[in-house]
Amino acid sequence: MVHLNYLFFLAASLLISASANPTNVERADHGPACLELRRVLPPGTVHNPVLDALEYLKDTTHWASSSTQLATCSVCPGTTQDVATILRTVSSTRTPFAVEGGGHASNPGFSSTEGVHISMSRFSEVTYDADTQTAVVGAGLIWDDVYAALAPHGVNVLGGRVTGVGVSGFMLGGGYSWKSNQYGLAVDSAVAFELVKPNGDVVNVTSTSDPTLFSGLKARYGGMNNFGIVTRFTLRTFPQTMVWGGLITYTLPHIPEVASAVADFSTRVTDPKASIITTYNFLLGQGSTFLILSGMRIDGIFEKFLAIQSFTKDIKTRDFLSLVKASPSNITYGQRSELLPDSPSPDSLTNRTACRAIFNTVSLTKYTPTILETILNETSYWGAHLSSKSGTFISYDVEPFLPDLFSHNTTPSAYPPNRSIGLSPLNIYYAWLDPKFDSDFHQAARDTAASIRNAAIVESQDIIGAPPYPNYAIFDTPLEQMYGSGLAGLKTLKASVDPTNVMGLAGGFKF
Ligand SMILES: Cc1cc2nc3c(=O)[nH]c(=O)nc-3n(C[C@H](O)[C@H](O)[C@H](O)COP(=O)(O)OP(=O)(O)OC[C@H]3O[C@@H](n4cnc5c(N)ncnc54)[C@H](O)[C@@H]3O)c2cc1C
Ligand SMILES: *[C@@H]1O[C@H](CO)[C@@H](O)[C@H](O)[C@H]1NC(C)=O
Ligand SMILES: *[C@@H]1O[C@H](CO)[C@@H](O)[C@H](O)[C@H]1NC(C)=O
Ligand SMILES: *[C@@H]1O[C@H](CO)[C@@H](O)[C@H](O)[C@H]1NC(C)=O
Ligand SMILES: *[C@@H]1O[C@H](CO)[C@@H](O)[C@H](O)[C@H]1NC(C)=O
Ligand SMILES: *[C@@H]1O[C@H](CO)[C@@H](O)[C@H](O)[C@H]1NC(C)=O
Repeated sequence: MVHLNYLFFLAASLLISASANPTNVERADHGPACLELRRVLPPGTVHNPVLDALEYLKDTTHWASSSTQLATCSVCPGTTQDVATILRTVSSTRTPFAVEGGGHASNPGFSSTEGVHISMSRFSEVTYDADTQTAVVGAGLIWDDVYAALAPHGVNVLGGRVTGVGVSGFMLGGGYSWKSNQYGLAVDSAVAFELVKPNGDVVNVTSTSDPTLFSGLKARYGGMNNFGIVTRFTLRTFPQTMVWGGLITYTLPHIPEVASAVADFSTRVTDPKASIITTYNFLLGQGSTFLILSGMRIDGIFEKFLAIQSFTKDIKTRDFLSLVKASPSNITYGQRSELLPDSPSPDSLTNRTACRAIFNTVSLTKYTPTILETILNETSYWGAHLSSKSGTFISYDVEPFLPDLFSHNTTPSAYPPNRSIGLSPLNIYYAWLDPKFDSDFHQAARDTAASIRNAAIVESQDIIGAPPYPNYAIFDTPLEQMYGSGLAGLKTLKASVDPTNVMGLAGGFKF
């Protein structure tokens, strides 16, 4: 029903802009590339915003409405050859395009376009190979579906920690998973990338077939969409039994106790199977905290959290997918608004098209009581400032990882130059309704990251030069910060793989 409303809205707005100003072309005309694609691709592959509106909406919609743009057409390739055809077409016509995996990009324009929008959703296979302990995973899947397909085999892969996150962007940007303390970043676990290169060549890139490109695809936190379009990932698998954990929410008065439990956890934890994401969330003048615990066994490390009086508590022994689905991440979509105490505006939360969003991040070596106090202060400071600007979520995800997080890499990779320091990302996540405040929220996300980073430096955390995590970093984060001294080599590799800069026609962080 929501889709139908939006469909009507979309069709109406197209008609209005066409009739109001028929001769004044304000948007570049990307129609020729769409017409050409319709001619050369199998029937049903190219979707027009009005004629194929439902498919078009499915292809182009994102987790955050600010990451969705009105593309001239969307296209849903079914084979690597289709992808090659699309890349050759956008290349020869120099048409802007986008590649969308799971659509969770928090940065506007990273997986959206006014030109040709490529949805990878038909790349949806999961094939487990028990002999090599690997799985071939399609680039259009969300992690929920990968976990579901592997569960019957008693194995799992390193993927997203909460529901709905896409395989592709997560992998190509690094990937902090529930198993990262044991096995490293998700990208570390990739043994092959099936890649359609910018010139349309299809290759399966491994450490032996093309070591340089393989390292580039894994560069630092991952090569993003710089080297072409990945269609399938071959990932290492790991045994998976039941897990213990879930979601606990607390109301405002209990936040100081939660902060103390987080600081205690962060300093004491040594068990790589015990892990948390704590969210401080300032919602339209109300405070609440979401907390996720995921431990494969109960060893006392979580007792402090369990002792605090909670608003909701859903902790138990369960399968991995059920844990992932217990997360509050679809909150932008309003599907879990029942979790919010005294929510002043439930209507705004049930509007799937409503919330705009931005992420930013700080890389920390540890979450100390001082840093957690700073984060709490930032939560209430920016919550108070931004709620009057249609803010709906002013939140900070505290994600402590073990210091030896990066020591588990088993395949050669360019990342990182120095694996001796583990970095725990802080995820700053703001959501709001009114596009006229976009730049206020973007600036606030930069300012708050700077404040927290300064506080960490003041308390002598060794984070000067530490790369911000690209999958959380705001769109104008300098590449030098994220890719460091490796950037020059990546630019050289990019230029040799993509001499005419086809991938520059797509958004994202660009080498
Ligand atoms: C609710 C939520 C939870 C999250 N949880 C985590 C977490 O636990 N750990 C973590 O590390 N990160 C997490 N993230 C961040 C996440 O890793 C990024 O948002 C990531 O970009 C999502 O990938 P996607 O495929 O869904 O995104 P998309 O928006 O589809 O794509 C992101 C980028 O990847 C490019 N891309 C997509 N598909 C391809 C392809 N096939 N070939 C080449 N390039 C491609 C796009 O062009 C775009 O630049 C989370 C994000 C959200 C919104
Ligand atoms: C790519 O290579 C890997 C490793 O050899 C293999 O497991 C995988 O099946 C190959 N993928 C494709 C699509 O050929
Ligand atoms: C969250 O949203 C995604 C995308 O719509 C959906 O596939 C997933 O099942 C949802 N998860 C939950 C727990 O509702
Ligand atoms: C959903 O939100 C959008 C953007 O704020 C608004 O234009 C639209 O009218 C809302 N739809 C409903 C059904 O409330
Ligand atoms: C709280 O944060 C704001 C914004 O960064 C800052 O101006 C203020 O000094 C902080 N207050 C305390 C007590 O740290
Ligand atoms: C890596 O960082 C650690 C801590 O800052 C430092 O002691 C070590 O010398 C560095 N190693 C390299 C190879 O730069």
